[in-house]
Formats: sequence, C-alpha cells, structure tokens
Amino acid sequence: MPRMQRTPVAVIGAGTMGAGIAQVAARAGHEVWLVDADDQAVAAAVESIARRFVRLVEKGSMPRAEQRQASARVHPGGRDPGRLPPVSLAIEAVAESLEVKHAVLGALGRSQPPETILASNTSSLDITRMAQPVPHPERVVGLHFFNPVPLMPLVEVVTGALSDPGVIDAAAALMADWGKTAVRCASTPGFIVNRVARPFYGEGQRMVQAGLVDPATLDAALRGAGFAMGPMELTDLIGQDVNLAVGASVWEQTGRDPRYEPTAYQRELVATGRLGRKTGRGVFRYDSAGQAVDADPDPELVGSIVGGPTVRDPVARTLAMLVNEAADVAHRGVANPDDIDTAMVLGAAYPRGPFAWRERLGAERVHRILAELDHACPTGRYRASPGLHV
Ligand code: NAI
Repeated sequence: MPRMQRTPVAVIGAGTMGAGIAQVAARAGHEVWLVDADDQAVAAAVESIARRFVRLVEKGSMPRAEQRQASARVHPGGRDPGRLPPVSLAIEAVAESLEVKHAVLGALGRSQPPETILASNTSSLDITRMAQPVPHPERVVGLHFFNPVPLMPLVEVVTGALSDPGVIDAAAALMADWGKTAVRCASTPGFIVNRVARPFYGEGQRMVQAGLVDPATLDAALRGAGFAMGPMELTDLIGQDVNLAVGASVWEQTGRDPRYEPTAYQRELVATGRLGRKTGRGVFRYDSAGQAVDADPDPELVGSIVGGPTVRDPVARTLAMLVNEAADVAHRGVANPDDIDTAMVLGAAYPRGPFAWRERLGAERVHRILAELDHACPTGRYRASPGLHV
C-alpha cells in the first residue's frame, strides 16, 4: 500500500468542490497542485483558499504559523493534468460529464505512475464506467465529498467493479487522516446519501401534490420528528432544479424504478422557474434577506395528522420510506447499515440514521405502513424491500 500521508496531491477542477478539497488537503499537510482548464479559476481558488485560512486564524481555529504554511502548499498546476509532477493521489472535480472525466482521468492515467490513486468526486456517474478506459483502472475510486468540503465531515468512498480493495483501504485511511469520516459504498445510483434521501423529498411532494397537507405544515411535521428542515424548505435551499436533477438521475439509472420517480409537483416548480431561494420563489416566496414570507404552518393540523391515519401522516410515511430504502441499499450489498446510518447523519444532517429508526419503530410497523400505502397507491413505489426484516 503506498504511504500517502503528506505526499503531493493533485486536484483537477478548481471550482466549488475542487477548491474545498485542495483546502482540506493543504491543511492536512500535502503539497497540492491545482489544475483547471480555466486559468482564472485556479487563480481565484488559490486566493480564496488563502483568504479562508486567514479567516480561520481570525476565528482562532488555526495558528498563524500554520496558516502561512498551509497557504504556501497550494500551487497553480496549469491547465493540463497530463503535465503534473508525480503525485500519490489525484482527485478530479471537473464538470459532471463522463466524457470530460474520461479525458482528465485518461491524461492522469497515462502520465502518473501506476500506483497513483485516481479519484473522482462525481456525485452521479458510475465509477466502473469511468475507470474502464483508464490505464490501471484498479486504482480508480470515488471520493464523494459534500459541499462545503471544509465543513462537511462525510466522504463516501465509492468502489467500482474494477477497484483494488487495497486502494479503497488506502483512500479511506487518507480521508480519516484528513479529519473526514469515510463510509464505503459500491458504485450504484446516488451512492448512499443521494439514494437513501430520495423519499424524504418524494413523500412530502406527493402529499402536497395530493392536497393532503400544505407545504409549511408538512415541514413543521418533519421538524417535529427531529429533522432540522422539512423537505419543502430544504429543496428550496438546495435548489429545486438541482434536487430534481439528482432525483431524475437516480430514477433513470435504476431503469425508472417507481420508487424514485420525480413528482409532477417538482417538475412544475422547475418548469415555471420557481427554483427556490436563489430565484426568490420556490415552494415558498423569499424576501431580499432570504427569509420565507409565506411559510406559516398550521400547528393544529400538525397535531391531527401526525399519528393519525397513515396516508395523511407525513412523519409515518417519510420514516417508513427512509427505513425501507436504507434496508434495500444494505440488502443489495451497496453499503453496510452502520455506514448508511453514519452517512445520513453526517451527510444529510438527519437526527438519527434509518437503521436506528427501524430499531425504534420496529420492522413490523414499517411493513404495515408500507402495506397501507401500497394498498392506497399500488404502483410499486411502496413495495417492502426483502431487506426490511433482515
Ligand atoms: P464547478 O463548476 O464549481 O467547478 C468545475 C471546474 O472544473 C470549473 O472551474 C471548470 O473550469 C473546471 N473544468 C471543467 N472541465 C475541465 C477540464 N476538462 N479540465 C480541467 N478543468 C475543467 O463545479 P463543482 O460544483 O465544483 O462540481 C465539480 C464536481 O463535483 C462535479 O462532478 C460535481 O458533480 C461534483 N460534486 C459537486 C457537489 C456540489 O455540491 N457542488 C457535491 C459533490 C460532488
């Protein structure tokens, strides 16, 4: 296994994610080469990383001597990943396109020594397909960071069909060395977080679409169950277009499994430009300070629907679907239950993981809720996973 600590690292793509990854790697002690097709992007990233280190010093969370050293470790690496010096790890965070990523990983694969680990920060593309044309594809791995990278503790370490287990171990160990919590998963649509979280959005949207509850009351019900935000305010924050794109990608990649079908409700929001906070209007309307102006819940309604008949209870529906999805992911061997719980708590800020919820609710109760929903809506969306009782 290569010793990767404090060896040079390359980051290709100096946008939002690449700059964040470079910052974390430099702070962990690596010399970092930052490459981008756009020179301006590299210059801007080098500057913004230096500024962020200064801010950390001002906040008292970084010694000044460390700030200077860490900033000095970030180097502009030009436009061509094929001309970099040898590194132990190269992470690409370029545009989300298989062709673009193939070009970048191919250039790295041809120019770097065979033991250099090549990682992709893709959030939706298949690591196996990405690795196939790369020389020594066994060293290609997914390292799915979350935005903002310096603050989000989770990294999904994604194994492609060709990935060498030793490379996966080395990548996971390095993430721990960077202060991240690594969870492991197979390369499947949405990996863990973006897959298991689908019903959190989809159930709420279906209930609002069916006129069973208004958006603000739905959100209040989910907050009452311990979630920091309800699905409506959260998708407004993420961007309805961004959230729809992730959902549609999982749906397409699973052969249009009805469990992931995007809702007409969300499609309509996107089609009419109601993208959320960033456009001043999504599910809710926002003032210039970004505050929702029409998001008043009906507390009495919350009291009557939560714990009431299943079809009208947003908490029962959402939790049952989250538990079912997590059980299915584990049953398919994509990830283990502990990693799934960790991923949902750290990556999606859930108050507890789906398996912890299964423990609380009981698999029998989850099964009953799903059976009732399946009876009311027999589309296959609510079928119980064979993994639910395992
Ligand atoms: P971004 O648009 O902020 O940055 C992408 C950068 O890549 C740009 O500076 C662009 O000039 C550069 N680039 C594009 N093609 C290139 C090429 N052929 N060679 C070198 N540089 C090239 O994008 P962002 O948000 O940082 O995303 C990057 C990757 O990270 C994508 O694969 C995305 O799916 C993934 N990701 C994004 C997350 C997010 O919340 N933004 C979260 C997790 C993963």
